[in-house]
Amino acid sequence: MSNSTTPLYEVRNIGKQYGSVVALDGVNFKIHAGEVIGLVGDNGAGKSTLVKALSGAHQPSSGEILLEGKPVVWKSPHDALEAGIETLYQDSGLAPDLSVSANVFLGREKVVSGILGKLGFLSQKQMDKEAHEDLERVGIAVPASNRSVSQLSGGQRQAVAIGRAVSWARKVIILDEPTNHLGARQAAEVLQIIKRAKERGLGVVFISHTLPHVLQVTDRIVVLRLGRVVADAPTSTFDAEKLLGTITGLIETK
Ligand SMILES: Nc1ncnc2c1ncn2[C@@H]1O[C@H](COP(=O)(O)OP(=O)(O)O)[C@@H](O)[C@H]1O
Ligand SMILES: [Mg+2]
Repeated sequence: MSNSTTPLYEVRNIGKQYGSVVALDGVNFKIHAGEVIGLVGDNGAGKSTLVKALSGAHQPSSGEILLEGKPVVWKSPHDALEAGIETLYQDSGLAPDLSVSANVFLGREKVVSGILGKLGFLSQKQMDKEAHEDLERVGIAVPASNRSVSQLSGGQRQAVAIGRAVSWARKVIILDEPTNHLGARQAAEVLQIIKRAKERGLGVVFISHTLPHVLQVTDRIVVLRLGRVVADAPTSTFDAEKLLGTITGLIETK
């Protein structure tokens, strides 16, 4: 991926403070279309705070955010969603008592105007069918979409949450710990979903503590430590030992 092209999504020099705690300190982060970025760092490094700035969940104290080269200000997560940026938080927020298809469509009425019109006319059967197609399109096989989410296994729930986010994303998909609590086979499926999202030309931000997954699926890795970027380099320049050392600070980078 050429560095001379305008990044799809970028934050420049952003800072975030919670009272006296400096959670982000002059962070630069960019992602190109069709690129998978691994975002890693120890607990408290600032990953979730950066995700919240990228997803519009909160506004940074300083710095700027650019989408396709144009400065943007997100007043709420809906602003970012509307602009094509989807975020799967660690806690996926599925509604257990609703069906799979209801979960796929949940919260979209306000976001996608085309769907609003469509939803009014969709029968339950059509909605089940569309949800199933959405999930299939991103490579997720779930049992009948009219089943309630509470009947699904943990792995299947996570698959629905990922499928919902990936199928709706138009530009950027941010996945916070999507392979947590998954078995090896299910985790491998999630990595496949990430690869397909990349092939669709999405920018993917993949946050994980499972370093072999990060090394396997990403093009570039950004390491945060205590609110600062301490490494931002092609994945091919890391091995597991170097990555771990960079995260913990045992290997000094800057
Ligand atoms: N809502 C909050 N209020 C106060 N401090 C916070 C809040 N959220 C995060 N922090 C602090 O900001 C720093 C970065 O946290 P976070 O972004 O959650 O890191 P990570 O996701 O990498 O574990 C930590 O020191 C954390 O304690
Ligand atoms: Mg976190």
